[in-house]
Amino acid sequence: MGTSRRHFIAQVSQGMIGTWVLNALPETSHARYIIAKDEKITHDDEPFWNVVRDQFPLTRDRTYFNNGTIGPSPYPVIESVKRAMDDLDGRGEYDGWETARPKIAKFMNVDETEISLTHNVTEGINIVAGGLPLKKGDEVIMTTHEHAGNALPWLNRAHLDDIVIKTFKPALTADENLNRINDLITSRTKVIAIPHITCTAGHVFPIKEIAKLGRDKGLWVFFDGAHGPGMIPFNLHDIGCDFYATCCHKWMCGPKGTGFLYVRKEMLDAVQAHWIGAYSDSGWDLTVDPPQFKGYVPTAHRYDFATQSAPIYIGLGAAIDFLYHIGMDNIARRNKALATHLQQELLKLGDNIEMLTPTEEHSRGAVIGFRLKNVTYDKFGEHASKKGFRIRLVGESHLNSIRISTHLYNNFDEVNRFVEAVKELA
Ligand SMILES: Cc1ncc(COP(=O)(O)O)c(C=O)c1O
Repeated sequence: MGTSRRHFIAQVSQGMIGTWVLNALPETSHARYIIAKDEKITHDDEPFWNVVRDQFPLTRDRTYFNNGTIGPSPYPVIESVKRAMDDLDGRGEYDGWETARPKIAKFMNVDETEISLTHNVTEGINIVAGGLPLKKGDEVIMTTHEHAGNALPWLNRAHLDDIVIKTFKPALTADENLNRINDLITSRTKVIAIPHITCTAGHVFPIKEIAKLGRDKGLWVFFDGAHGPGMIPFNLHDIGCDFYATCCHKWMCGPKGTGFLYVRKEMLDAVQAHWIGAYSDSGWDLTVDPPQFKGYVPTAHRYDFATQSAPIYIGLGAAIDFLYHIGMDNIARRNKALATHLQQELLKLGDNIEMLTPTEEHSRGAVIGFRLKNVTYDKFGEHASKKGFRIRLVGESHLNSIRISTHLYNNFDEVNRFVEAVKELA
Protein backbone atom coordinates (compact mmCIF):
# COMPACT_ATOMS: atom_id res chain seq x y z
CA MET A 1 0.00 0.00 0.00
CA GLY A 2 1.45 3.41 -1.01
CA THR A 3 2.21 6.11 1.52
CA SER A 4 -0.50 8.37 0.21
CA ARG A 5 -3.03 5.54 0.49
CA ARG A 6 -2.07 4.81 4.10
CA HIS A 7 -2.22 8.52 4.81
CA PHE A 8 -5.70 8.64 3.31
CA ILE A 9 -7.02 5.74 5.38
CA ALA A 10 -5.46 7.21 8.52
CA GLN A 11 -7.18 10.49 7.86
CA VAL A 12 -10.51 8.89 7.15
CA SER A 13 -10.36 6.76 10.28
CA GLN A 14 -9.70 9.94 12.27
CA GLY A 15 -12.78 11.43 10.76
CA MET A 16 -10.75 13.84 8.68
CA ILE A 17 -10.32 14.05 5.01
CA GLY A 18 -7.64 16.72 5.28
CA THR A 19 -5.68 17.20 2.11
CA TRP A 20 -8.40 15.44 0.18
CA VAL A 21 -10.59 18.49 0.40
CA LEU A 22 -10.28 20.94 -2.45
CA ASN A 23 -9.63 24.40 -1.06
CA ALA A 24 -12.07 25.93 -3.47
CA LEU A 25 -15.01 24.64 -1.45
CA PRO A 26 -16.42 26.91 1.26
CA GLU A 27 -15.80 25.79 4.86
CA THR A 28 -19.51 25.45 5.57
CA SER A 29 -19.85 23.02 2.70
CA HIS A 30 -20.67 19.31 2.99
CA ALA A 31 -18.88 18.74 -0.29
CA ARG A 32 -15.54 16.97 -0.37
CA TYR A 33 -13.63 16.04 -3.45
CA ILE A 34 -12.29 12.58 -2.84
CA ILE A 35 -9.22 12.41 -4.98
CA ALA A 36 -8.19 8.91 -5.94
CA LYS A 37 -8.03 9.26 -9.66
CA ASP A 38 -4.53 7.96 -10.32
CA GLU A 39 -4.65 5.39 -7.60
CA LYS A 40 -6.21 1.97 -7.96
CA ILE A 41 -8.94 1.60 -5.36
CA THR A 42 -10.07 -1.98 -4.96
CA HIS A 43 -13.73 -2.95 -5.15
CA ASP A 44 -13.76 -3.91 -1.46
CA ASP A 45 -11.93 -0.94 0.02
CA GLU A 46 -14.74 -0.17 2.46
CA PRO A 47 -13.10 2.83 4.21
CA PHE A 48 -12.73 4.53 0.86
CA TRP A 49 -16.21 3.69 -0.40
CA ASN A 50 -17.77 4.72 2.92
CA VAL A 51 -16.29 8.18 2.45
CA VAL A 52 -17.75 8.22 -1.04
CA ARG A 53 -21.14 7.24 0.41
CA ASP A 54 -20.94 10.11 2.87
CA GLN A 55 -20.85 12.49 -0.06
CA PHE A 56 -24.40 11.50 -0.99
CA PRO A 57 -27.24 13.03 1.00
CA LEU A 58 -29.32 10.09 -0.25
CA THR A 59 -31.48 8.95 2.67
CA ARG A 60 -30.32 5.97 4.70
CA ASP A 61 -33.92 5.14 5.62
CA ARG A 62 -34.07 2.92 2.61
CA THR A 63 -31.59 1.21 0.32
CA TYR A 64 -31.41 2.77 -3.08
CA PHE A 65 -30.96 0.31 -5.95
CA ASN A 66 -32.54 2.37 -8.70
CA ASN A 67 -29.70 4.31 -10.25
CA GLY A 68 -30.85 2.99 -13.62
CA THR A 69 -33.80 5.34 -13.32
CA ILE A 70 -32.21 8.31 -11.62
CA GLY A 71 -28.76 8.88 -10.18
CA PRO A 72 -28.79 10.82 -6.92
CA SER A 73 -26.24 13.64 -6.93
CA PRO A 74 -23.48 14.03 -4.37
CA TYR A 75 -22.91 17.24 -2.38
CA PRO A 76 -20.31 18.73 -4.73
CA VAL A 77 -22.91 18.68 -7.51
CA ILE A 78 -25.82 19.91 -5.41
CA GLU A 79 -23.81 22.71 -3.89
CA SER A 80 -22.39 23.71 -7.24
CA VAL A 81 -25.92 24.11 -8.63
CA LYS A 82 -27.01 26.12 -5.61
CA ARG A 83 -23.94 28.36 -5.74
CA ALA A 84 -24.45 28.99 -9.42
CA MET A 85 -28.09 29.94 -8.81
CA ASP A 86 -27.14 32.34 -6.04
CA ASP A 87 -24.39 33.83 -8.13
CA LEU A 88 -26.35 34.21 -11.36
CA ASP A 89 -29.58 35.41 -9.84
CA GLY A 90 -27.59 37.71 -7.58
CA ARG A 91 -26.00 39.32 -10.61
CA GLY A 92 -29.01 39.10 -12.87
CA GLU A 93 -26.93 37.11 -15.37
CA TYR A 94 -27.47 33.75 -17.04
CA ASP A 95 -24.16 32.65 -18.54
CA GLY A 96 -22.10 29.55 -17.84
CA TRP A 97 -23.78 26.54 -19.45
CA GLU A 98 -21.11 26.43 -22.15
CA THR A 99 -18.56 25.31 -19.55
CA ALA A 100 -20.13 21.82 -19.72
CA ARG A 101 -19.43 21.15 -23.40
CA PRO A 102 -15.61 20.88 -23.25
CA LYS A 103 -15.85 18.87 -20.02
CA ILE A 104 -18.21 16.36 -21.60
CA ALA A 105 -16.00 16.15 -24.68
CA LYS A 106 -12.93 15.43 -22.57
CA PHE A 107 -14.80 12.89 -20.44
CA MET A 108 -15.89 10.96 -23.55
CA ASN A 109 -12.70 11.61 -25.54
CA VAL A 110 -14.44 13.25 -28.48
CA ASP A 111 -14.22 16.70 -29.98
CA GLU A 112 -16.16 19.53 -28.41
CA THR A 113 -17.65 20.28 -31.81
CA GLU A 114 -19.30 16.84 -31.77
CA ILE A 115 -21.30 17.47 -28.59
CA SER A 116 -24.79 18.90 -28.43
CA LEU A 117 -26.13 19.80 -24.97
CA THR A 118 -29.50 18.19 -24.35
CA HIS A 119 -31.75 17.71 -21.34
CA ASN A 120 -32.25 13.95 -21.34
CA VAL A 121 -31.57 10.88 -23.47
CA THR A 122 -34.85 11.08 -25.34
CA GLU A 123 -34.12 14.54 -26.70
CA GLY A 124 -30.90 13.35 -28.33
CA ILE A 125 -32.69 10.32 -29.76
CA ASN A 126 -35.40 12.52 -31.27
CA ILE A 127 -32.78 14.70 -32.96
CA VAL A 128 -31.27 11.66 -34.68
CA ALA A 129 -34.47 9.70 -35.36
CA GLY A 130 -36.19 12.79 -36.74
CA GLY A 131 -33.18 14.16 -38.61
CA LEU A 132 -31.79 11.27 -40.66
CA PRO A 133 -32.86 11.22 -44.32
CA LEU A 134 -35.01 8.07 -44.15
CA LYS A 135 -37.77 7.27 -46.57
CA LYS A 136 -40.60 4.81 -46.94
CA GLY A 137 -39.42 1.21 -46.65
CA ASP A 138 -36.02 2.02 -45.10
CA GLU A 139 -35.29 -0.34 -42.22
CA VAL A 140 -34.07 0.38 -38.70
CA ILE A 141 -32.77 -2.38 -36.42
CA MET A 142 -33.75 -2.21 -32.75
CA THR A 143 -34.19 -4.62 -29.85
CA THR A 144 -37.38 -5.87 -28.23
CA HIS A 145 -36.02 -4.44 -24.96
CA GLU A 146 -36.16 -0.73 -25.71
CA HIS A 147 -37.06 1.93 -23.21
CA ALA A 148 -39.90 4.20 -24.35
CA GLY A 149 -37.24 6.89 -24.85
CA ASN A 150 -35.67 4.99 -27.75
CA ALA A 151 -38.75 3.12 -28.96
CA LEU A 152 -41.08 6.07 -29.42
CA PRO A 153 -38.95 8.47 -31.51
CA TRP A 154 -38.28 5.68 -34.06
CA LEU A 155 -41.88 4.43 -33.95
CA ASN A 156 -42.97 7.99 -34.55
CA ARG A 157 -40.71 8.19 -37.58
CA ALA A 158 -42.24 4.93 -38.81
CA HIS A 159 -45.68 6.43 -38.23
CA LEU A 160 -44.80 9.61 -40.11
CA ASP A 161 -42.65 8.27 -42.94
CA ASP A 162 -43.42 4.56 -43.23
CA ILE A 163 -39.95 3.38 -42.30
CA VAL A 164 -39.80 -0.22 -41.07
CA ILE A 165 -38.63 -1.24 -37.58
CA LYS A 166 -37.06 -4.69 -37.26
CA THR A 167 -36.28 -6.10 -33.85
CA PHE A 168 -34.20 -8.80 -32.21
CA LYS A 169 -34.40 -10.15 -28.69
CA PRO A 170 -31.19 -9.47 -26.74
CA ALA A 171 -29.15 -12.63 -26.27
CA LEU A 172 -26.91 -13.63 -23.39
CA THR A 173 -23.61 -13.40 -25.27
CA ALA A 174 -21.93 -10.68 -27.27
CA ASP A 175 -21.32 -12.99 -30.24
CA GLU A 176 -24.95 -14.01 -30.42
CA ASN A 177 -26.09 -10.38 -30.27
CA LEU A 178 -23.79 -9.54 -33.17
CA ASN A 179 -25.19 -12.51 -35.10
CA ARG A 180 -28.77 -11.45 -34.44
CA ILE A 181 -28.08 -7.95 -35.72
CA ASN A 182 -26.23 -9.28 -38.74
CA ASP A 183 -29.12 -11.62 -39.55
CA LEU A 184 -31.56 -8.68 -39.64
CA ILE A 185 -29.55 -6.62 -42.12
CA THR A 186 -31.04 -6.42 -45.60
CA SER A 187 -30.47 -4.19 -48.59
CA ARG A 188 -33.11 -1.82 -47.10
CA THR A 189 -31.41 -1.48 -43.71
CA LYS A 190 -30.24 2.06 -43.01
CA VAL A 191 -29.79 2.33 -39.25
CA ILE A 192 -28.86 0.27 -36.21
CA ALA A 193 -30.49 2.05 -33.26
CA ILE A 194 -30.05 0.01 -30.11
CA PRO A 195 -29.10 0.60 -26.48
CA HIS A 196 -25.51 0.48 -25.33
CA ILE A 197 -26.82 -1.28 -22.22
CA THR A 198 -30.43 -2.44 -21.98
CA CYS A 199 -32.66 -0.81 -19.37
CA THR A 200 -34.42 -4.11 -18.75
CA ALA A 201 -31.70 -6.49 -17.62
CA GLY A 202 -28.45 -4.63 -18.25
CA HIS A 203 -27.17 -6.55 -21.29
CA VAL A 204 -23.99 -4.73 -22.33
CA PHE A 205 -23.80 -4.88 -26.10
CA PRO A 206 -20.44 -5.12 -27.90
CA ILE A 207 -20.78 -1.61 -29.26
CA LYS A 208 -17.37 -1.39 -30.88
CA GLU A 209 -18.00 -4.54 -32.91
CA ILE A 210 -21.55 -3.44 -33.72
CA ALA A 211 -20.27 -0.05 -34.91
CA LYS A 212 -17.75 -1.84 -37.14
CA LEU A 213 -20.43 -4.14 -38.52
CA GLY A 214 -22.60 -1.12 -39.30
CA ARG A 215 -19.71 0.74 -40.92
CA ASP A 216 -18.79 -2.27 -43.06
CA LYS A 217 -22.39 -2.50 -44.26
CA GLY A 218 -22.73 1.25 -44.86
CA LEU A 219 -25.30 1.81 -42.08
CA TRP A 220 -25.70 4.61 -39.57
CA VAL A 221 -25.04 3.37 -36.07
CA PHE A 222 -26.78 5.02 -33.14
CA PHE A 223 -26.57 3.99 -29.49
CA ASP A 224 -29.03 4.88 -26.76
CA GLY A 225 -26.43 5.43 -24.07
CA ALA A 226 -28.68 6.05 -21.08
CA HIS A 227 -26.70 3.48 -19.12
CA GLY A 228 -23.17 3.97 -20.42
CA PRO A 229 -21.28 7.04 -19.20
CA GLY A 230 -20.64 6.96 -15.47
CA MET A 231 -21.27 3.21 -15.22
CA ILE A 232 -18.30 2.07 -17.26
CA PRO A 233 -15.31 3.96 -18.64
CA PHE A 234 -15.07 4.01 -22.41
CA ASN A 235 -13.69 6.11 -25.18
CA LEU A 236 -16.50 7.19 -27.46
CA HIS A 237 -14.23 8.14 -30.32
CA ASP A 238 -12.67 4.70 -30.22
CA ILE A 239 -16.12 3.03 -30.37
CA GLY A 240 -16.58 4.43 -33.86
CA CYS A 241 -20.36 4.89 -33.83
CA ASP A 242 -22.06 7.79 -35.62
CA PHE A 243 -24.35 8.96 -32.83
CA TYR A 244 -24.60 8.41 -29.09
CA ALA A 245 -27.28 9.95 -26.88
CA THR A 246 -27.22 9.92 -23.12
CA CYS A 247 -28.37 11.77 -20.05
CA CYS A 248 -26.15 12.90 -17.21
CA HIS A 249 -28.79 12.32 -14.54
CA LYS A 250 -28.34 8.56 -14.21
CA TRP A 251 -24.87 7.04 -13.87
CA MET A 252 -23.02 10.35 -14.00
CA CYS A 253 -25.01 11.54 -10.96
CA GLY A 254 -25.40 14.98 -12.49
CA PRO A 255 -28.27 17.47 -12.13
CA LYS A 256 -31.62 16.27 -13.45
CA GLY A 257 -32.38 17.60 -16.89
CA THR A 258 -28.88 17.36 -18.31
CA GLY A 259 -27.70 15.20 -21.18
CA PHE A 260 -25.75 15.25 -24.39
CA LEU A 261 -25.82 13.95 -27.91
CA TYR A 262 -22.63 12.97 -29.71
CA VAL A 263 -22.72 13.35 -33.48
CA ARG A 264 -19.58 12.24 -35.30
CA LYS A 265 -18.13 15.20 -37.21
CA GLU A 266 -18.59 13.60 -40.60
CA MET A 267 -22.28 12.97 -39.85
CA LEU A 268 -23.32 16.50 -38.98
CA ASP A 269 -24.88 17.16 -42.34
CA ALA A 270 -26.62 13.77 -42.37
CA VAL A 271 -28.79 14.74 -39.41
CA GLN A 272 -31.09 17.57 -40.42
CA ALA A 273 -31.67 20.03 -37.57
CA HIS A 274 -35.41 20.64 -37.35
CA TRP A 275 -35.47 22.83 -34.27
CA ILE A 276 -32.98 25.67 -34.36
CA GLY A 277 -32.46 29.05 -32.76
CA ALA A 278 -29.83 31.37 -31.35
CA TYR A 279 -26.36 29.77 -31.65
CA SER A 280 -27.49 27.13 -34.21
CA ASP A 281 -26.76 29.33 -37.19
CA SER A 282 -23.81 30.84 -38.98
CA GLY A 283 -25.69 34.04 -39.79
CA TRP A 284 -29.07 35.42 -40.80
CA ASP A 285 -30.55 38.74 -41.85
CA LEU A 286 -34.18 39.69 -42.32
CA THR A 287 -33.41 43.25 -43.38
CA VAL A 288 -32.10 42.28 -46.81
CA ASP A 289 -34.12 41.18 -49.80
CA PRO A 290 -34.48 38.28 -49.98
CA PRO A 291 -34.04 37.48 -46.27
CA GLN A 292 -30.87 35.54 -45.70
CA PHE A 293 -30.08 32.31 -43.81
CA LYS A 294 -26.41 31.47 -44.13
CA GLY A 295 -26.74 27.98 -42.70
CA TYR A 296 -25.85 26.04 -39.58
CA VAL A 297 -22.80 26.30 -37.38
CA PRO A 298 -20.33 23.60 -38.44
CA THR A 299 -20.73 21.82 -35.09
CA ALA A 300 -23.29 19.79 -33.13
CA HIS A 301 -24.19 23.05 -31.42
CA ARG A 302 -26.64 23.47 -34.30
CA TYR A 303 -29.03 21.13 -32.42
CA ASP A 304 -29.05 23.10 -29.16
CA PHE A 305 -30.04 26.69 -28.99
CA ALA A 306 -31.36 29.61 -27.01
CA THR A 307 -31.23 30.19 -23.28
CA GLN A 308 -30.29 27.24 -21.09
CA SER A 309 -30.23 26.69 -17.35
CA ALA A 310 -26.62 27.53 -16.54
CA PRO A 311 -26.72 26.18 -12.94
CA ILE A 312 -27.57 22.62 -14.00
CA TYR A 313 -24.85 22.53 -16.65
CA ILE A 314 -22.35 24.06 -14.23
CA GLY A 315 -23.43 21.30 -11.80
CA LEU A 316 -22.83 18.78 -14.55
CA GLY A 317 -19.26 20.03 -14.73
CA ALA A 318 -18.99 19.38 -10.98
CA ALA A 319 -20.38 15.85 -11.50
CA ILE A 320 -17.73 15.12 -14.12
CA ASP A 321 -15.05 16.43 -11.76
CA PHE A 322 -16.44 14.21 -9.00
CA LEU A 323 -16.23 11.12 -11.23
CA TYR A 324 -12.73 12.07 -12.38
CA HIS A 325 -11.45 12.53 -8.87
CA ILE A 326 -12.68 9.11 -7.78
CA GLY A 327 -11.62 7.62 -11.11
CA MET A 328 -13.95 5.96 -13.61
CA ASP A 329 -11.96 2.71 -13.42
CA ASN A 330 -12.38 2.67 -9.66
CA ILE A 331 -16.10 3.40 -9.92
CA ALA A 332 -16.68 0.73 -12.54
CA ARG A 333 -14.73 -1.82 -10.48
CA ARG A 334 -16.92 -1.09 -7.47
CA ASN A 335 -20.34 -0.96 -9.12
CA LYS A 336 -19.67 -4.08 -11.14
CA ALA A 337 -18.31 -6.00 -8.14
CA LEU A 338 -21.53 -5.25 -6.26
CA ALA A 339 -23.65 -6.37 -9.21
CA THR A 340 -21.53 -9.48 -9.74
CA HIS A 341 -21.91 -10.40 -6.08
CA LEU A 342 -25.67 -9.97 -6.35
CA GLN A 343 -25.86 -12.04 -9.50
CA GLN A 344 -23.79 -14.85 -8.01
CA GLU A 345 -25.86 -14.93 -4.83
CA LEU A 346 -29.10 -15.00 -6.82
CA LEU A 347 -27.79 -17.79 -9.03
CA LYS A 348 -27.25 -19.85 -5.90
CA LEU A 349 -31.02 -19.89 -5.49
CA GLY A 350 -31.15 -22.26 -8.46
CA ASP A 351 -34.50 -22.96 -10.01
CA ASN A 352 -36.29 -20.42 -7.84
CA ILE A 353 -34.72 -17.66 -9.89
CA GLU A 354 -34.70 -16.87 -13.56
CA MET A 355 -31.63 -14.75 -14.26
CA LEU A 356 -32.16 -12.39 -17.19
CA THR A 357 -28.77 -10.67 -17.15
CA PRO A 358 -25.91 -12.30 -19.04
CA THR A 359 -23.30 -14.02 -16.92
CA GLU A 360 -20.69 -13.46 -19.62
CA GLU A 361 -18.17 -11.06 -18.10
CA HIS A 362 -18.12 -8.44 -20.84
CA SER A 363 -21.87 -8.57 -21.47
CA ARG A 364 -22.89 -7.27 -18.05
CA GLY A 365 -22.26 -4.19 -15.93
CA ALA A 366 -24.00 -2.79 -12.87
CA VAL A 367 -27.60 -3.72 -13.68
CA ILE A 368 -29.09 -7.10 -12.76
CA GLY A 369 -32.49 -8.30 -13.93
CA PHE A 370 -34.27 -11.42 -12.75
CA ARG A 371 -37.61 -13.04 -12.09
CA LEU A 372 -38.75 -15.21 -9.24
CA LYS A 373 -40.28 -18.47 -10.36
CA ASN A 374 -43.20 -18.58 -7.97
CA VAL A 375 -43.72 -14.96 -7.04
CA THR A 376 -45.01 -12.25 -9.34
CA TYR A 377 -42.81 -9.21 -9.81
CA ASP A 378 -45.33 -6.82 -8.33
CA LYS A 379 -45.77 -8.98 -5.24
CA PHE A 380 -42.01 -9.04 -4.83
CA GLY A 381 -41.98 -5.28 -5.37
CA GLU A 382 -44.32 -4.79 -2.40
CA HIS A 383 -42.18 -7.05 -0.25
CA ALA A 384 -38.96 -5.25 -1.24
CA SER A 385 -40.52 -1.88 -0.59
CA LYS A 386 -41.68 -2.93 2.89
CA LYS A 387 -38.13 -4.07 3.58
CA GLY A 388 -36.83 -0.63 2.62
CA PHE A 389 -35.45 -1.28 -0.86
CA ARG A 390 -36.01 1.09 -3.76
CA ILE A 391 -35.89 -1.15 -6.80
CA ARG A 392 -37.30 -0.97 -10.34
CA LEU A 393 -40.02 -3.28 -11.59
CA VAL A 394 -39.71 -3.87 -15.32
CA GLY A 395 -43.00 -4.01 -17.18
CA GLU A 396 -41.32 -3.18 -20.49
CA SER A 397 -41.54 -5.82 -23.20
CA HIS A 398 -43.93 -7.76 -20.92
CA LEU A 399 -40.87 -8.89 -18.99
CA ASN A 400 -42.51 -8.49 -15.58
CA SER A 401 -39.16 -8.69 -13.90
CA ILE A 402 -37.08 -7.06 -11.18
CA ARG A 403 -34.17 -4.75 -11.83
CA ILE A 404 -31.42 -3.82 -9.41
CA SER A 405 -28.84 -1.15 -10.18
CA THR A 406 -25.72 -0.86 -8.03
CA HIS A 407 -23.57 2.25 -8.02
CA LEU A 408 -20.67 3.82 -6.17
CA TYR A 409 -22.69 4.72 -3.07
CA ASN A 410 -23.96 1.14 -2.49
CA ASN A 411 -22.16 -1.49 -0.43
CA PHE A 412 -21.98 -5.25 -0.01
CA ASP A 413 -24.02 -5.23 3.16
CA GLU A 414 -26.94 -3.71 1.25
CA VAL A 415 -26.64 -6.35 -1.45
CA ASN A 416 -26.54 -9.14 1.14
CA ARG A 417 -29.63 -7.78 2.86
CA PHE A 418 -31.41 -7.66 -0.46
CA VAL A 419 -30.50 -11.29 -1.17
CA GLU A 420 -31.99 -12.20 2.22
CA ALA A 421 -35.19 -10.40 1.24
CA VAL A 422 -35.31 -12.41 -1.99
CA LYS A 423 -34.77 -15.65 -0.08
CA GLU A 424 -37.71 -14.87 2.17
CA LEU A 425 -40.02 -15.11 -0.83
CA ALA A 426 -38.14 -17.41 -3.15
C1 LIG B 1 -32.23 2.75 -22.10
C2 LIG B 1 -32.94 4.04 -21.81
N1 LIG B 1 -33.15 4.90 -22.81
C3 LIG B 1 -33.77 6.07 -22.61
C4 LIG B 1 -34.22 6.43 -21.37
C5 LIG B 1 -34.91 7.74 -21.21
O1 LIG B 1 -34.12 8.62 -20.46
P1 LIG B 1 -34.50 10.15 -20.33
O2 LIG B 1 -35.71 10.21 -19.45
O3 LIG B 1 -33.29 10.80 -19.75
O4 LIG B 1 -34.79 10.66 -21.69
C6 LIG B 1 -34.01 5.58 -20.28
C7 LIG B 1 -34.48 5.93 -18.93
O5 LIG B 1 -34.55 5.15 -18.02
C8 LIG B 1 -33.36 4.35 -20.51
O6 LIG B 1 -33.16 3.49 -19.51
